[in-house]
Amino acid sequence: MAKRAVADAVSTAVVSTDVVSTDVSTDVVSMDVVSTDVVSTDVVSTDVVSEARPSEAASEEPAIEHESWISPSAMGRRAFNRHASAAALTLGTGSAFYGALFGRRDYTIEEVPIPIAGLPRTLDGLTVVQLSDIHVGSFVGEGELRAAEALVREARPDLIVLTGDLLDHDAAYAPQLGRFVERLRPLARFGVAAIPGNHDHYAGVEAVEEALRRAGAHLMTNAGRLIGDGGGAFGLVGVDDLWAKEGRAPNLERALAMVPRDVPKILLAHQPVFLEQAVGKVQLQLSGHTHGGQVSLGWNPAELVLPNGWVRGRYDVGESILYVNRGFGTAGPPTRLFSPPEVTKLVLVAA
Ligand SMILES: [Fe+2]
Repeated sequence: MAKRAVADAVSTAVVSTDVVSTDVSTDVVSMDVVSTDVVSTDVVSTDVVSEARPSEAASEEPAIEHESWISPSAMGRRAFNRHASAAALTLGTGSAFYGALFGRRDYTIEEVPIPIAGLPRTLDGLTVVQLSDIHVGSFVGEGELRAAEALVREARPDLIVLTGDLLDHDAAYAPQLGRFVERLRPLARFGVAAIPGNHDHYAGVEAVEEALRRAGAHLMTNAGRLIGDGGGAFGLVGVDDLWAKEGRAPNLERALAMVPRDVPKILLAHQPVFLEQAVGKVQLQLSGHTHGGQVSLGWNPAELVLPNGWVRGRYDVGESILYVNRGFGTAGPPTRLFSPPEVTKLVLVAA
């Protein structure tokens, strides 16, 4: 099943490539003329080197005009090289340009039905909206947060979950995160629940957690709580990040002990690989961390590099389901290619 999910993700990326390539190829055409002269300098100099070989020079007619030394096939090769180099240069530049300008703001709501064994009938259809990897900081500010708020509102959540990397690298942005969470809280009847990610530890996890508390969010770091109504409930549990700073660590057993054993459980864990510890203990794990690879050109190297190939989307593992959100912000360069920022609308189905 995991392989199928990965294949789905890859095919999604391929489809996206088709959609966006029109813009990129337009760039190729428009820049080809400009860059040809620059690139052709390198191509010609290669020919000059080959001309310097004495044995070849002796067998040729005396060179008068530089161009007369070049055979038709070499000319074809030169033309090909010139255009290929120009295209590669332009594609790279154009792609980075597109990713920086537009890719990181191609906001997408992914609606995903998730069957939950043992979910009370009264909670059938309950909507959990997941935001992950917002990375509030230098490149994600008020404009992006307002866009996120509008998307969450559009998704009509019963519960909002934030699965880590809420700040990028600087605790000075914690108050802005707090104001954002305050605005989210009234949008869902069960409020906002949150865990930290590795970047929150880099930025200053105490400041992040204090901002979340002040904003009225349920802090789920190694903690559990019941979510439901008179008809029944499920257990929402959360863990600290696997790369938590010294003195802290994920503690799933502690979180599970805070909810009854006989209710279905949904786990918030920043890194997908945590499922290796949680499989069979929870019905669903919600994660982020990978940014869906963040930069992809149809083929996504992250699928080979990251543990188990868990990069984005749904994976069925044993009795558990993993869902990996592509994230909302960016880490490192503010660029996304064919991995659009995501707000996930998970619709729980009683199974
Ligand atoms: Fe992240």
